[in-house]
Amino acid sequence: MIAAAAAVPAAARTDARTDAIVVIDFGSQYTHLIARRVRELEVYSEIIPATAGPEATEHLNLRGIILSGGPASVYDAGAPAIPEWVLECGAPTLGICYGMQAMARQLGGRVAPGAVREYGHADLLIDDGGAGGGDGNGARGAGGDGRGGGLLAGLAGSIPVWMSHGDRVDEAPPGMIALARTANTDCAVISDGKLRYGLQFHPEVQHTPDGMTILRNFVRGICGCAGTWTPSNFVAEAVSRLRAQVGDDRVICGLSGGVDSSVAAALLHRAVGRQVTCILVNNGLLRHGEAEQVQDTFRRHLGLDLRYVDASERFLGKLAGVTDPEAKRKTIGAEFIRVFEDAAGELDDARWLAQGTLYPDVIESETPENRASARIKSHHNVGGLPERMNFGLVEPLRYLFKDEVRAVGQELGLPDDIVYRQPFPGPGLAIRIIGEVTPERVELLRDCDRIVLEEIRAAGLYRDIWQSFAVLTDNRTVGVMGDQRTYGYACAIRAVNSDDAMTADWARLPYETLARISSRIVNEARGVNRVVYDITSKPPGTIEWE
Ligand code: XMP
Repeated sequence: MIAAAAAVPAAARTDARTDAIVVIDFGSQYTHLIARRVRELEVYSEIIPATAGPEATEHLNLRGIILSGGPASVYDAGAPAIPEWVLECGAPTLGICYGMQAMARQLGGRVAPGAVREYGHADLLIDDGGAGGGDGNGARGAGGDGRGGGLLAGLAGSIPVWMSHGDRVDEAPPGMIALARTANTDCAVISDGKLRYGLQFHPEVQHTPDGMTILRNFVRGICGCAGTWTPSNFVAEAVSRLRAQVGDDRVICGLSGGVDSSVAAALLHRAVGRQVTCILVNNGLLRHGEAEQVQDTFRRHLGLDLRYVDASERFLGKLAGVTDPEAKRKTIGAEFIRVFEDAAGELDDARWLAQGTLYPDVIESETPENRASARIKSHHNVGGLPERMNFGLVEPLRYLFKDEVRAVGQELGLPDDIVYRQPFPGPGLAIRIIGEVTPERVELLRDCDRIVLEEIRAAGLYRDIWQSFAVLTDNRTVGVMGDQRTYGYACAIRAVNSDDAMTADWARLPYETLARISSRIVNEARGVNRVVYDITSKPPGTIEWE
């Protein structure tokens, strides 16, 4: 046994030369968005829990800290506090919503319940001079004369912002002044002009149109971060980290043909060349024609050392009788590792297993980096792994969001049909089959799924939609076909728009496309007699049904 699955592979993170912003998570549903926005400013950003100690940032060139929002009130028993090390570390700190209230309270200001809960749009009135570029003569002149530190530089006197809070800061702490207000609070933005800043609203959401300007002012201006977090820099850094991690050892890379594992494989290939052996496991849960297509693409296009293992019977055997979604995920995750261990038996120097785990998988699963309460599902790349296994893990994309992975894929020269492939979950069709996964039901879903994708492509929608697929429910319904009664399964169509799979909106597919999908499925997929369209967003739904 070489490594325990729980260890965080340090080599997956950025190196200490890259300027970094740490986002301290107080439990907001937007925490991940803050990190994304910072990265859109070409600055590396990582999320750490509010309970973490300073050692959580030791691997980073820490230039600034953002305190997220959160559901608590600072007066709740057990409300999370800003760790002392954060307040003492000397890095510029920006509190957002709860983060600002916690900062105000801990530094001696006053926080109190607002007259009303403020949720949604508000007009932010920036005090004279607060927008920067002012001459400092304003009554409470702030940004322009340096007292606001330039946080609001470049903004008009009144801007729309998005609020979501019950408490408010009634009195800024000593040394900090209010730079802007709304109808509901006089302290909507506070600052000491040097190190400490607070925003009552959420700059990270799209409903605050100037939010990126404010974040840019903080990250690039106040913190002085260089914009070096670019795909080409990432590739250069990742290649040297991977070489250091892997040395002369052989790496096995699980390839599914999806963009994540493909980019991970291509990155490893760039780093250590023929030391990488890719294994495509057919778990019997792949989409129509996928196994053949992936073999063709990777052998022909990329010249990778690719081995194909048909383990369909093994997986379907293990899944017999399993109906619980988490049990399915864990069964599949565990079997994957066993299959790899068997395949590795033939490659006796293989010591590492590479996976295309992404940051949202890490954020949404129970991992060393985050808190247990955040777990929604055990993604099989992350939570489904057994406690101990025969490989060390190489996860070069562990801190990337999907759009960043696509940018890296392009940087590495992967073909568009791989880079822009819609995501497909590791546990495959199994988590789109409600109830028992039998070979017949997999075949039925595969047919439905093929039809959905053919029609989505024919309508020219494939690249615009984040994911589109079919789900086989375990509901049977009565129908009529050719004067005969039918009693078949209901198939659900799911199509969503998303930026990173953390949130998603159901896609407004054209009726004509839905009509074609419905009619083809009922006519061509034997066993389905009803088609429904899933119009649930995430939250409250998730993208996959299980
Ligand atoms: P959910 O269903 O959690 O899915 O909203 C978010 C995104 O993750 C994909 N997904 C997975 N990907 N292993 C993966 O590699 C998994 O176990 C897994 N579960 C969900 C899902 O397709 C969507 O893109």
